[in-house]
Amino acid sequence: MILQDYDKLIFEISSQGHTGYDMPKSEVEEYDLDAELGEYSRKEPARLPEVSELQILRHYTQLSNRNFGVESGPYPLGSCTMKYNPKVNENIAAMDGFANIHPLQDPETAQGALQLMYELQESLQEITQLDTITLQPAAGAQGELAAILAFKAYFESIGELEQRRVILIPDSAHGTNPATAMVAGFETIELPSTPEGIIDVEAVRAAVGPDTAGIMITNPSTAGLFERDAKEIVDIVHEAGGLAYYDGANLNAIMGITSPGAMGFDACHLNLHKTFTGPHGGGGPGSGPIGVVEKLAPFLPGPNVAKEGDKYVFVMPEKSFGRVKGNYGNFGVNVRAYSYIRAMGPDGLRRASEDAVLNANYLRVLVKDHFDAPFESFNKNDFVLNLTRHKKEYGVNAKDVGKRMLDYGVHAPTTYFPLIVEECLMVEPTETESKRDLDYVADVLIKIAQEAVENPELVQSAPHNTPVRRLDEAAASRKPVLKFAFEEHATKPEGLQE
Ligand SMILES: Cc1ncc(COP(=O)(O)O)c(C=O)c1O
Repeated sequence: MILQDYDKLIFEISSQGHTGYDMPKSEVEEYDLDAELGEYSRKEPARLPEVSELQILRHYTQLSNRNFGVESGPYPLGSCTMKYNPKVNENIAAMDGFANIHPLQDPETAQGALQLMYELQESLQEITQLDTITLQPAAGAQGELAAILAFKAYFESIGELEQRRVILIPDSAHGTNPATAMVAGFETIELPSTPEGIIDVEAVRAAVGPDTAGIMITNPSTAGLFERDAKEIVDIVHEAGGLAYYDGANLNAIMGITSPGAMGFDACHLNLHKTFTGPHGGGGPGSGPIGVVEKLAPFLPGPNVAKEGDKYVFVMPEKSFGRVKGNYGNFGVNVRAYSYIRAMGPDGLRRASEDAVLNANYLRVLVKDHFDAPFESFNKNDFVLNLTRHKKEYGVNAKDVGKRMLDYGVHAPTTYFPLIVEECLMVEPTETESKRDLDYVADVLIKIAQEAVENPELVQSAPHNTPVRRLDEAAASRKPVLKFAFEEHATKPEGLQE
C-alpha cells in the first residue's frame, strides 16, 4: 500500500516553491525595512514550510481528526467542566469589531467592546452576589493570585500584613490554591476533611488565630461535594480577622441557586472557560474574572470598565496593585461568556446547573454497583470513584480504566485527583450530555469493570484503538521534545546560511 504523508510534520511535506496564496502585486513602493533595522534585521530567510492551500488543509484536517474533543465524544474530565461550547458564541466572538480590536485601541473608538465588558461585569456581579468584578485575569489561577494579592494589599492598608501570615487550605483543594498562597508570600496550613469528605469545621476553629490572613475554599469541593458548612467556616475566619476566598471553578453546580456572596465570602474567581463556555484545554486561552466585596475593591487589578454619563471608560482602582493583563483582558473568551449569559438568561443558567448536577448523579447511580465510591453522599457536578479494590484484585488501576475508555470513544475522566482519594477517577459529565450519551458512558464503565475481571491485560495495555498507544508520560514531561529539528528532516531552502 502506498502511504500518504499524513503522519509527517508540515515541515516534512514542504517542498520549495509551493505557496498557499498569491499576493496581488503591491501598488505601494517597497520600503527597505532591513536598512532601517540595521543590525537587528533578519540575517536569513524565515524557515517556513512551503505547501499549497490544499496540502495545508489536508494536513490540519488529518491532525484534528486524530485529536479528541468534546465534539468527538463524551468528555467527562472531572473538575474541568468540558461542556459543549455553542457555535453561536464562537460566531459572535469572531465578529469583526470584536475579533480585530487592538489591545491598545483608544476606548473612544471601542465603545461597543467596553459596553460588553461593563455589562459582563454587571452579570457576574449578579451571579456571584459580590460588589465589584474585574475581568483582568486570564485564567482561574491568575484570578486566585490577583485576589490574594488584593487581600495582601488590604492587610497592608490596615497595618496587619506582618501579623497575618497564614492561609488555611483544605486537603481537598485544587493545587493552584496552595500554590497561589505561597506565590503571594503567605504560609499555608492544611485542613483535614471529615470521613464524609467535607471540611472539618472544628479543624478550622482550631487553626484560626491572630496570624490568619484567610481561607481558600472550593465549593462544591474537588470531590464534587457541597461544603454545607461554608457559611459557618467563613464566619469563624471573619471573627478571627481573616478573609474568605471562594474558588469558583465549580460554579457550574450552583449558578442561579446560590453564590459566593450568599455564603459570605469576600472574594472569588470564576472560570469563564469552564462554566461560561469559553473553549479550553491545553492551558488556555481562559478568563478568570474575580469578584470582591466593597472593602477590597480599591485594591483590585485594573483597568476595569466604568460608565460616565453615556460613555464607557477604563478606570484603575484607587489603590490597585497593578495590571495582570492588557486593558481588554482575554477579550475573546469574555465575548463568548457574555453571549452565553445573555442567551441563557437567569433561568437558563440555573437550569444548566440543575442539569449538570442531575447528570452527574444519574451517571453515578448507574455505575455505583461496579465501582467503589469513597463518599456516600449526593454529589454536585462531578463525582469520584476509588479503584483501589480493582488494583489489588485484578491489577487494573485508575489510569488503565481511563485509557481503556478512549478505546470506546469516551475521553478519560480526571485521574488521581483529588489527592485525598486513592486510585481516583473523577467524572464530570456536564449538562450538555444527553441521557443517551450518559447511558453510553455508564455502559462503557460497566464493560471495563467486567473486562478488568475477565481480561485484565486488555485493560492494562489500553488504549488499542487510538492513533497513538499508551505514552510514556514520565518521559514526555521530563524529556519533552519541543523543537523541530529542521536540519534532520526538511530540505533546506537554497542559499540558507547556518
Ligand atoms: C478547583 C479549581 N481551581 C482552580 C483551577 C485553576 O483554573 P485555571 O486552569 O483556569 O488556571 C482549576 C482548574 O482546573 C480548578 O479545577
